[in-house]
Amino acid sequence: MTTSMRGDVKDISLAPRGKGRIEWAAKEMPVLRLIRERFTQDQPLKGVRMSGCLHITTETANLAITLKAGGADLNLCASNPLSTQDDVAAALISEYGIPTFAIKGEDEQTYYRHINAVLDHKPNMTMDDGCDLVSTLHTTRTELIPSIVGGMEETTTGVIRLRSMERDGVLRFPVLAVNESDTKHLFDNRYGTGQSSIDAIIRSTNILLAGRTIVVLGYGWCGRGVASRAHGMGANVIVTEVDPVRALEAVMDGYRVMPGIEAAEVGDIFITVTGDVNVIDRPHLERMKNGAIIANSGHFNDEINIPALEALSVKKRRIRDFVDEYTYADGRQVHLLAEGRLVNLSAAEGHPASVMDMSFANQALGAEYMLIHASEMQSRVYTLPAALDKEIARLKLRAMGVRIDTLTPEQDKYLNSWESGT
Ligand SMILES: NC(=O)c1ccc[n+]([C@@H]2O[C@H](COP(=O)([O-])OP(=O)(O)OC[C@H]3O[C@@H](n4cnc5c(N)ncnc54)[C@H](O)[C@@H]3O)[C@@H](O)[C@H]2O)c1
Repeated sequence: MTTSMRGDVKDISLAPRGKGRIEWAAKEMPVLRLIRERFTQDQPLKGVRMSGCLHITTETANLAITLKAGGADLNLCASNPLSTQDDVAAALISEYGIPTFAIKGEDEQTYYRHINAVLDHKPNMTMDDGCDLVSTLHTTRTELIPSIVGGMEETTTGVIRLRSMERDGVLRFPVLAVNESDTKHLFDNRYGTGQSSIDAIIRSTNILLAGRTIVVLGYGWCGRGVASRAHGMGANVIVTEVDPVRALEAVMDGYRVMPGIEAAEVGDIFITVTGDVNVIDRPHLERMKNGAIIANSGHFNDEINIPALEALSVKKRRIRDFVDEYTYADGRQVHLLAEGRLVNLSAAEGHPASVMDMSFANQALGAEYMLIHASEMQSRVYTLPAALDKEIARLKLRAMGVRIDTLTPEQDKYLNSWESGT
């Protein structure tokens, strides 16, 4: 471990490798590049102290570089103990001068020590992925709240936690729910989680997916992506849901839908993406086939009841990287990937840069928007204005060389009138 005044990372000598990978990701992030160019000129974040709790990946590094180019004084820590890319963390410090506190595999105590380290920066603005930063601020670091103008939240689980804080009347500054932008969840959660979760399962197990029965628990934005990519690899996909509309959508998308407890008996591979707790519980674990593989791609590692899995097992061993083999008393073996932490960021590299380009364009423009509008906002959860969302889509299309039509004046008038009918 390398500890310095400006961060806490595993090994600072990994920085050159991290720099190369950050530059590689940048090639796939044209929207963020355009924002960076404007930020460099306009300095919209000049003097703003920011603390970010995000997955420390090559894409996050590009966001951090953009915010710094816009004048922000930024500190970063990890939003999950297993998602840090150690070479990126090293490069952020030594190549880009961004204090970073993140070590892949850090224990819970270190995880919170790192969160507190970025809070020691006394932020005016927060950036969160899962709400651990904001929740720490509201519980143990309340003295810092008066100087905070607002924050941004990246993911569904974080937005759920923030809305619950808002409902309970305890949220003390406005937060922009970046996740709610169309250019975030429609692409990042669906195509990003879809591809990278399958990528992680393949990287960690090297098994053939064709012909396997894959159970996707939760058919939200992430679940839709995972199911469609698993189907594309030749798997038989089963979906479980608690929401009747989403269950119906899964049926009409061509998947088998059934209760989780029934799916438990027939699945070869299970992927949870619900944001809910104990979706794979002891009764599910008891019914699983010998050889079953379980992974989670939801935000927290409580979607699978891991204590129950431990209790059911007489033996546990790490059979290969990111694969723990649990042996039951009757000899059946069940395999848990990445300790139940979000598999795509733990056992692979997270979302491809091309989708994070849009998510982080929302973060960067969100920071600028928050600074301008914070005084008009209350301590509530807000979404980014639709105009910004559309602008990001427009820039992305332009970067991809895709042109679209515009309404003619006649069509515009027609769509805005009620007089014309049959
Ligand atoms: N791995 C990643 O990189 C990544 C990326 C984005 C989001 N996430 C996380 O993934 C999770 C899901 O996000 P989302 O955007 O798809 O949310 P979502 O709200 O769109 O979908 C979640 C779905 O799970 C269903 N669900 C809830 N409890 C269930 C249960 N007991 N059994 C079956 N289904 C159940 C809900 O009805 C809903 O349809 C969140 O924790 C989010 O933060 C992870």
